[in-house]
Amino acid sequence: MLLTNLNAATMRDGYGLIADAAVLIADGRIAWVGPRAGAPGGHEAVDCGGRLLTPGLIDCHTHLVYGGSRAHEFEQRLTGVSYAEIAKAGGGIASTVRATRAAAEADLAASALKRLDSLLAEGVTTIEIKSGYGLDRETEISMLRVARELAQWRPVDVVTSYLGAHALPPEFKENREAYLALVCTEVLPAVAEQGLADAVDAFCEGIAFSVAETRRVFEAAKALGLPVKLHAEQLSNLGGTKLAAEFGALSVDHVEYLDQEGVDAIAASGTVAVLLPGAFYYLKEKQAPPVAALRKAGVPIAIASDLNPGSSPVHSLLVTMNMACVLFGLTPEEALSGVTRNAARALGLEDRGMIAAGQKADLALWDAERPGDLAYPLGFNPLVAVIRNGEVVRGII
Ligand code: NIG
Ligand code: FE
Repeated sequence: MLLTNLNAATMRDGYGLIADAAVLIADGRIAWVGPRAGAPGGHEAVDCGGRLLTPGLIDCHTHLVYGGSRAHEFEQRLTGVSYAEIAKAGGGIASTVRATRAAAEADLAASALKRLDSLLAEGVTTIEIKSGYGLDRETEISMLRVARELAQWRPVDVVTSYLGAHALPPEFKENREAYLALVCTEVLPAVAEQGLADAVDAFCEGIAFSVAETRRVFEAAKALGLPVKLHAEQLSNLGGTKLAAEFGALSVDHVEYLDQEGVDAIAASGTVAVLLPGAFYYLKEKQAPPVAALRKAGVPIAIASDLNPGSSPVHSLLVTMNMACVLFGLTPEEALSGVTRNAARALGLEDRGMIAAGQKADLALWDAERPGDLAYPLGFNPLVAVIRNGEVVRGII
């Protein structure tokens, strides 16, 4: 298939825009991309009507599989109760843990599919999904199984992360040590053995796990050959980022309170900073991540929905892109890089996120004149079609 008459944002360097471009797809991969005038001959041409083509979008941080709802906490927070207060009172993550443990696996899958469909309607072709709402062995494994299974029902690649160190489960309230031992010596090895996790994540925060505790989880992951990533410096600066850098983490996520030392550490380790403006927005946080320092240090910046029932019930990467611009001061170009090239990097995937020869043919076609148009509106979806592995899986071209 030779796609012609399109405006291609290749994302190879900035937008990497090619006007009046053509893209040749063969065997699910991009075989050639360039100006139409130079396109290889002998192929059936598909006219794209001058539309904008981007890589398929990548949501590199979600908690999409969970049971129950936290709408009541949204209402509570609006009366002035904080996220941390709700967590301390047994709500927050713990409330979703109760609901997730009580849910049947089929119901977890059904509710997750609905959320996934919202993301797919905006051109997402790869998504990361974390566990972390089961905390016991059985439910964590069940969450990861459901996450993997979603790829059988929808045209999407699912990357999973084991997030056992998300919160201390109530049954271990008096025994943090025993819970960490369970995570490191029982659940993580079981998850790894079943091939259910592509990476290991943790929540390093005052209301969650300390740097020393996170280190134990990372040591266990390393021993099993699994890459790590971290929810770090979201509500305070504990220094989790430096630990993550020491372990060569794929990404550090949130990072509102990241300091210069932390920026320098991830610049040196090649770790991606994943910004999550949805959580910042919902929690009405005041301190934005140090975008200028990240830019200056050349740290790749990704952005993600953080789709979760508590701090970020955000089901849209287009909205996330807009929030990253308005709330964090990213340029629309950085926002699009953040859900394509840099999001792929945050997942350790080198075969996607750009329109370039050899890359996976995961593409989104938009009724937009310029790539900057994607981050500009709120609540408007210009998606026309999605190609995944070289096949049109949504819309018509
Ligand atoms: O990424 N920070 C920790 N985890 C989630 C929130 C989870 C929840 O509130 O249920 C996050 O924001
Ligand atoms: Fe998260």
